[in-house]
Amino acid sequence: MEENLAKKRLYSAVQPTNALTIGNYIGAINNMVALQDEYDCTYAIANMHAITVRQQPAQLRANTLSVLALYLACGLDPQKCTLYVQSHVPCHAELAWVLNTFTYVGEMERMTQFKDKSAKHADNINMGLMDYPVLMAADILLYKADVVPVGIDQRQHLEICRDIAVRFNNVYSPTFTVPEGIYPKVGAKIADLSDPAKKMSKSSENPAGTIFMNDGRDAIIKKFRRAVTDSDGEVRYDPENKPGISNLLSIYTVFTGKSVAQAEAEFAGRGYGDFKSAVAETVADALAPVQAEQARLLADKGYLDSVLAEGARRAYKTASSTLAKVYRKIGFYQL
Ligand code: TYM
Repeated sequence: MEENLAKKRLYSAVQPTNALTIGNYIGAINNMVALQDEYDCTYAIANMHAITVRQQPAQLRANTLSVLALYLACGLDPQKCTLYVQSHVPCHAELAWVLNTFTYVGEMERMTQFKDKSAKHADNINMGLMDYPVLMAADILLYKADVVPVGIDQRQHLEICRDIAVRFNNVYSPTFTVPEGIYPKVGAKIADLSDPAKKMSKSSENPAGTIFMNDGRDAIIKKFRRAVTDSDGEVRYDPENKPGISNLLSIYTVFTGKSVAQAEAEFAGRGYGDFKSAVAETVADALAPVQAEQARLLADKGYLDSVLAEGARRAYKTASSTLAKVYRKIGFYQL
């Protein structure tokens, strides 16, 4: 499959840090799978972003293949989309350098994620952590993406990517496609089960509030049983006043395909205990076959490597052509 000029282009990526969570699945991977027929899709495993926080090398290597196997197990088809590892395409670092000169230090200092991660990793506030959104802009702009499906926590990064693209285009004539974010209608920000004010995160210190994609049935049931709710006793979607229950409703509707109204009706007059069990069973049932398929794929490293080699080849073709155009425009002497 070569670049498809008839379709709009879509780009997204996931960092191979820790095991992924159902937040990653609901916020991003679910849409990435749903949109693979409609768009010309490129999906990265963002290992260059991952090292902005110190990683254990062997773990990072293993997580990289795990994310690929999960992409495939969730239904991404390498015949339809390009799946590759970010560091296999050198153009990302190269374009990020150029875009750095179109990005202001003050803008980066104001990024919410930079502030959060700086507070969390106060002993390692490295330049990469601050430059993270510029590398992300390079990812997206290299592939001329029209749309980028992500969770709401990436909105600020997507906005800065758009600003950088427009800035560059204004100086050098239209070069970059200015991308739009695609956020899920339900579940754009899945909350931590034990603290619904917080985002469910793969790097949370409290795994009790996080459902990992590789959690077993018992762990899933235990975590949902302990999920923080409220004292009003009614299963009703009201994120403002009932964040815990609303979060569980989001999870339930995404995994069952039911509407919020249907789910509310189903649990009308029933206690939270029943509802939590139903959500837990639904998630455990949905994840079991994905986990089995991921394990099967991970046992076939030859196949996974072949997917990545082909993905890197295709990705490089598009990325290097965008980078050459940028280098020409900014006046880099070319041989
Ligand atoms: P990452 O690895 O943190 O998360 C991957 C995707 O999962 C979404 N997500 C969530 N959605 C809903 N609820 C949650 N609790 C939740 N937690 C995570 C994220 O929004 C994301 O879509 N910087 C990106 C990776 C990246 C990227 C890119 C994305 C690198 N380059 C280019 C898009 C385009 C990140 O850290 O995602």
